[in-house]
Amino acid sequence: NMNPKSLIVIFGATGDLAKRKLFPSIYQLYEKGKLSEEFAVVGVARRPLSNDEFRNYVRQSVENALRQELSDLSFVSHFYYHPFDVTDIASYQQLKTLLAQLDETYHTDGNRIFYLAMAPEFFGTITSRLKSEGLTATNGWKRLVIEKPFGHDFRSAQQLNVEIRQSFAEHEIYRIDHYLGKEMVQNIEVIRFSNAIFEPLWNNRFISNIQITSSETLGVEDRGRYYDHSGALRDMVQNHMLQMVALLAMEPPIKLTTDDIRSEKVKVLRALRPISHDEVDQYFVRGQYGRGIVNGKEVISYREENNVDPNSNTETFVAGKLMIDNFRWAGVPFYIRTGKRMTEKSTKIVVQFKDVPMNLYYRTNEKIQPNLLIIHIQPDEGITLHLNGKKSGENMKTTPIELDYCNNCIDGINTPEAYEKLLYDCMRGDATNFTHWDEVAASWQFVDPISEVWESTKAADFPNYEAGSMGPKASDALLEKDGFRWWPIHYHQ
Ligand code: BG6
Repeated sequence: NMNPKSLIVIFGATGDLAKRKLFPSIYQLYEKGKLSEEFAVVGVARRPLSNDEFRNYVRQSVENALRQELSDLSFVSHFYYHPFDVTDIASYQQLKTLLAQLDETYHTDGNRIFYLAMAPEFFGTITSRLKSEGLTATNGWKRLVIEKPFGHDFRSAQQLNVEIRQSFAEHEIYRIDHYLGKEMVQNIEVIRFSNAIFEPLWNNRFISNIQITSSETLGVEDRGRYYDHSGALRDMVQNHMLQMVALLAMEPPIKLTTDDIRSEKVKVLRALRPISHDEVDQYFVRGQYGRGIVNGKEVISYREENNVDPNSNTETFVAGKLMIDNFRWAGVPFYIRTGKRMTEKSTKIVVQFKDVPMNLYYRTNEKIQPNLLIIHIQPDEGITLHLNGKKSGENMKTTPIELDYCNNCIDGINTPEAYEKLLYDCMRGDATNFTHWDEVAASWQFVDPISEVWESTKAADFPNYEAGSMGPKASDALLEKDGFRWWPIHYHQ
């Protein structure tokens, strides 16, 4: 069914995510005619609000996010509000009655999405009450959408999973990793499997290393309370970075079904070479930003931020070298780096091919540049392929050539927001771009020893990178040891 009918219940409806991402995304789907008229959204949160107040709030959120006025208010008339206390049984009973009424009014056939856009400490309580109070017993389908963080380490993630699995089956659980909703992240698979020229080279015989950079210019903003207990490894590596590694490294799936794709990704995550406690320093680098200048503005250091411990040992930057111990990738390092308060906001993947067997042009060129395939995830979306050619008019001198495809330069194409696509997928029951528990488990198992070492040993030199830089020197040294270097994020030869 292209226009799925459903009730969407958003827990945490007055929070940041609902305001910035969820309401605007639902609006976009509505605008594009992807929602049937038979839908309703119930906002649930602690604050007492009337339906009208809530509709006004939704309207403002959409207007702010999309910088346009909503003249037609039929969209917000689909929104309802239910003031709620997580632990109060009566709250669930009232919500149940409301959902039953809305089901009648909107002919939604009992289809329900429960979206938990709130602090994870209540996930277990909410899901178990939804079941015990009968909100999940419907004639239609039911789905649970949960935001990160999914646990703090493997054990807590497992515990959380056991809790929610008492009320929802694995196939009903949609764990959000919003990187999987990004256009160019979804394109990785298509570039790999719809072109004859890459896949034969996509292995340790022809690729020397792969680099993934996700840099941000923002600091922790108002998220110090969460972030200071998380750090970049949990915030970005365990989920987004490892998901990109999995998509780059997986075997071609037999078919493009959710199960086939996920099981290939899980194999990659399970093949990650485990890092033991005493190897952490050899494979991983941590950093924390000091003061500096970002986009021309002076900024404070991490330790001076709100709700951050002034002696914080939390990393805001991670660089790592991952090895995938399978036939395809043995010997090929995957380097990842991510951090806050870096030079610019950019996510890129660089696939570096091995050098030609010998340099025939040594008289005119000491060195020939390696071929690179660069997948530009954001802010620019595209693919560049870096080759060598003859320099016009000169005697057999080589020059770098860049084939450049820009994905978001095409006129009239407005790349949909990740959340818009993911919500739509969830309504249609397509869980491909959500993470399966097995993926979450394998990535925590890989990450845990690193955070254990980092938590038990204080970083000697924090802060160790200047805001506005590309991270600590040790991050460059990590590649130099192997004879490589980070390709600049603006790589144009
Ligand atoms: C989130 C992290 O998952 O991803 C944030 O919690 C980070 O700390 C964000 O800023 C980055 O996402 P994007 O889409 O801006 O690259």
